[in-house]
Amino acid sequence: MTEFLPFLILAYLLGSVPTAVLYGKFVHGVDIRDHGSGNAGATNSLRVLGKKAGFAVLIIDVLKGVLAVQIPRMFFSNEPETLIIFGFAAVIGHLLPVFAGFRGGKGIATSFGIILALQPLAALICLLVFVVVVYVTKYVSLGSLTGSFSFLIYSFFALPELRFFQLMCFVLFLLLVYTHRQNIKRLLSGTENKYPPK
Ligand code: G3P
Repeated sequence: MTEFLPFLILAYLLGSVPTAVLYGKFVHGVDIRDHGSGNAGATNSLRVLGKKAGFAVLIIDVLKGVLAVQIPRMFFSNEPETLIIFGFAAVIGHLLPVFAGFRGGKGIATSFGIILALQPLAALICLLVFVVVVYVTKYVSLGSLTGSFSFLIYSFFALPELRFFQLMCFVLFLLLVYTHRQNIKRLLSGTENKYPPK
């Protein structure tokens, strides 16, 4: 356990890098959290700062998840049940970043990075679900939630022997639902932001 601790802290710190906040401040001179949905993530960066910002934030936030898994993978086992704990720490860092007053994003891109590193096929399925849902409904949040849900379903059917991994996926999914609670309220009341806006 003690040998895991520095890597858990590293994963949390990696997740804590507030990409959207830094991009907004240094490139546009704004705090992204004061604009749009107020979320420090790729969707809000796209909405408020434009395509270049959205793309840059997305790539770096996904990379945070990938690295949080790949770095411990080089030192410990290749067990998904061990590695997902480091990924989870990175998501916590992304949600509650020590470098940005503990006000971060909603965790989708970083979670996707974890899945990409641990289960690339499942990541492809999630991405496909996300793209189709967003294309049809124009709701990014709905795409995020259905994409996350599809991974949970995948873990239950395709990885039946990994009980702890499934449990972590379930906890991660609940966490993502929680971070999207305002989006869910808006979806239910028909007031959720669309992309592109109309
Ligand atoms: O990944 C975040 C996305 O699902 C929702 O973002 O800015 O519309 O709340 P936003």
